[in-house]
Amino acid sequence: YGTQTINAKGHLTIGGTDTVELATEYGTPLFVYDIQLFRERARAFQQTFEQQKIGYQVAYASKAFSSIAIYQVAAEENLSLDVVSGGELYTAIKAGFPKEKIHFHGNNKSEAELRMAFEEEIGCIVVDNFYEIDQLKKLSEQLERPMNILLRVTPGISAHTHDYITTGQEDSKFGFDLNNGQADKAFAETVHHAFLKVMGLHCHIGSQIFDTAAFRMASEKLVKKMAEWKEQYEYTCPVLNLGGGFGIRYTEEDQPLAPSEYVKEMIQTVKTVSADAGFDVPEIWIEPGRSLIGDAGTTLYTVGSTKEVPGTRQYIAVDGGMSDNIRPALYGAKYSSLLANKANAELTKQYTVAGKCCESGDKLIEQAQLPAAEPGDILSMFCTGAYGYSMASNYNRLARPAVVFVENGEHQLVIKRESYEDLIKQDVSYNPQVTRR
Ligand code: LLP
Repeated sequence: YGTQTINAKGHLTIGGTDTVELATEYGTPLFVYDIQLFRERARAFQQTFEQQKIGYQVAYASKAFSSIAIYQVAAEENLSLDVVSGGELYTAIKAGFPKEKIHFHGNNKSEAELRMAFEEEIGCIVVDNFYEIDQLKKLSEQLERPMNILLRVTPGISAHTHDYITTGQEDSKFGFDLNNGQADKAFAETVHHAFLKVMGLHCHIGSQIFDTAAFRMASEKLVKKMAEWKEQYEYTCPVLNLGGGFGIRYTEEDQPLAPSEYVKEMIQTVKTVSADAGFDVPEIWIEPGRSLIGDAGTTLYTVGSTKEVPGTRQYIAVDGGMSDNIRPALYGAKYSSLLANKANAELTKQYTVAGKCCESGDKLIEQAQLPAAEPGDILSMFCTGAYGYSMASNYNRLARPAVVFVENGEHQLVIKRESYEDLIKQDVSYNPQVTRR
């Protein structure tokens, strides 16, 4: 992946830095991000739009990995930003991210979150439901402030992916249904509002999608709907946001297309359908998370105990687990790995890589082909950059790992490892006086 190589010591390197040295310096578990790869991924999306000569925004879906430092790199790369909570929005503002390029998502934004969006004058709010429309009308009138909005719809297309992460089918908690009049009603309720400016439609049809058909179908349905509204209301929506969801390669079983291929097909469809419908080609916005940051991230762990279940399997346990990467336990997600300090050694063993959490399901990799492992070896697990750290927890009161960025032979700490002190910092001692009768 990206800038990874093996150096003369037989150690895995990323971004020109020796991962074994990183493990020594920062400790493990450690998230290492190949920032050059993140930049390349961003530029590949942007260049595709440039080549196809179409207005666009590429928004980084920061739920995949949110931190001040990554927001700063995203800003350097001229990305827009998708945030889904007051917490992500706050982090983006603290990072100095250009506010006019922030898009705010979520199916149950609180009044305080919406107020913050108005006060910070962010780029747009992606509206999810009728309750939110009411809240937005009240707030914008009360504050006398304008706001760009996109209407999120569910087009009724199910992309072939894991059930838990399919959000485009009809029975979804997200968005207005495009096929039963809900979306039309949402448009009618907002199009003439004094402060809300309807920019267009949004959909996100799922995550880790390999095939372009669902994107094409969604593009077609949404453009047709916007063309219909143009006829009916003489109002042209200038933007079509097609979400994220482009698949990446975790293991050899995964065969995604190049990110640019998905985008090319979308653009083609949007151009054709717009021309047929006599509709001005809208700007296309996308919001990839995983395909920007997923393969840029690698987790380093230290191998500790081992256990043999004779005739069945050999476990090796590492110093993290479902607390820093819940995806194997939650989705059955598969990953590939290497012993970073024995990167050239022959793969003579098959191990199950277990985490250290008190739960039998805490296995990171079912079948890892590795050299013979010993305590102290550094295991690198690849493609953990998306939804790893961002879904991490303190289960078992494990401290969240540190995060470092590597690029051009340099490394820098961007999230500190949590300490025991951090783990108890929100705790308040029990006071027996309070409940004494
Ligand atoms: N836009 C919207 C509205 C989304 O809901 C999502 C992801 C994205 C963009 C970015 O999707 P991506 O390009 O990263 O696939 N925790 C799961 C993934 C959940 C995705 C939720 N929404 C996982 O670890 O696989």
